[in-house]
Amino acid sequence: MTSSPTDPTRLPLLPPGFVWGASTAAYQIEGAAEEDGKGPSIWDTFVRRPGAVRDGHTGEVACDHYHRLDEDVALMRGLGLDAYRFSVSWPRVLPAGTGKVEPRGLDFYDRLVDALLDAGIQPTPTLFHWDLPQALEDEGGWLNRETAYRFAEFAAVTADRLGDRVERWITLNEPFVHMAFGYAFGVHAPGRALMLDALPVAHHQLLGHGLATAALRAAVPDARVLLANNCTPVRLRPDARSDGDAAAAAAYDTLHNRLFNDPVLTGAYPDLSAYGMTDPGWGGVVRDGDLEIVSAPLDGLGVNYYNPSWVTAPADPAAGLPFDLAEPQETYRRTAFGWPVVPEGLTELLTGLKDRYGDALPPVWITENGCSLPAGQRDPERVDYLAGHITAVADAVARGVDVRGYFTWSLLDNFEWAEGYHQRFGLVEVDFATGRRTPRTSFAWYRDLIASQRP
Ligand code: BGC
Repeated sequence: MTSSPTDPTRLPLLPPGFVWGASTAAYQIEGAAEEDGKGPSIWDTFVRRPGAVRDGHTGEVACDHYHRLDEDVALMRGLGLDAYRFSVSWPRVLPAGTGKVEPRGLDFYDRLVDALLDAGIQPTPTLFHWDLPQALEDEGGWLNRETAYRFAEFAAVTADRLGDRVERWITLNEPFVHMAFGYAFGVHAPGRALMLDALPVAHHQLLGHGLATAALRAAVPDARVLLANNCTPVRLRPDARSDGDAAAAAAYDTLHNRLFNDPVLTGAYPDLSAYGMTDPGWGGVVRDGDLEIVSAPLDGLGVNYYNPSWVTAPADPAAGLPFDLAEPQETYRRTAFGWPVVPEGLTELLTGLKDRYGDALPPVWITENGCSLPAGQRDPERVDYLAGHITAVADAVARGVDVRGYFTWSLLDNFEWAEGYHQRFGLVEVDFATGRRTPRTSFAWYRDLIASQRP
């Protein structure tokens, strides 16, 4: 037995009943992009755009999970997972986004749910992890309010089929990242570079979240509904001096965190005047009654955490945004992506949510957390990363935050969006030429951690 700080038996114990999980997403792992009647998604389109994805990689085959479901569930069983977070591909279920249902698409998730339950693993589906049906994008995507209603239709169809066995549901994954990367900067699908004109995408996604929540509860009376937000503690650099820096940090916090947490938890949008938005109705985007739908009580807030953000006043205020993202002055270890490794940022984030929302904060679930590292089966850096962040969760719990579960990103190496297969986040290494899976050192560590956390 080792006595290193990463020895799983030395980590603090999370409360009884704490749920240990792993996360993936449909487009990142499934492959089978045109199989069994699946319609195209915006990612199927975007990956064909020259230069959009590093080295022209696509998710056409990905981890081939669509054909390797049993093998992958066996891996999860080997880990001893309590829960598995996957996403349901909307265009697999509704190839045109609305209307005609493709039963073979639903059959796949039906089999997955049964296999998970057989393995003692709670299925935790996310309904939207960025793969919008292309047919809906052709009608404006999330810029079009109608998409919110189509999302509720998709939620109802899926819940109708799986709701007899699935209790915990996640509506959207990271509406901030989808708005910012997909619609404001155009580095993700659908590749629109609208900058601040992308704001309606925030509201339409959140409206979709609220409508889908109602649809899930109508179909599954004991449904537990979560929203998974990407959250970041916003930090000033130690050399920050001016009020301008503090105002920039507040503006970034508003855009990244509060825009997506406030309406859901408090029923009101934050002040967006730093973004030139002074009309509470956003020029007709936010309509009477919408915020009641958006703020339907949640059973849990999903938090995806990777790192803090450092912000300064914009060097060029005329450039359009009220902040600049900056590099930290401190030296941190970095992941292969170059992201700083700051486990205590997760404690800061969680206690900050509690301070901000108080009793309006529902139980929190860490729905993603992990790191990309170079290829290879020995990954002590990932073990360090996980141990540090899980300890940070335990610290937040000790300080009064009600955290119910932790899902690591990710079970498998997978298609990392604009980075293609270059960033590897898996507990399991995937050889993308052959599909072969090889559990890493971190897999054994996470298995031992889960076992040592059980009574
Ligand atoms: C997303 C995942 C992604 C991960 C790592 C999150 O923003 O939900 O799909 O793979 O971060 O970049």
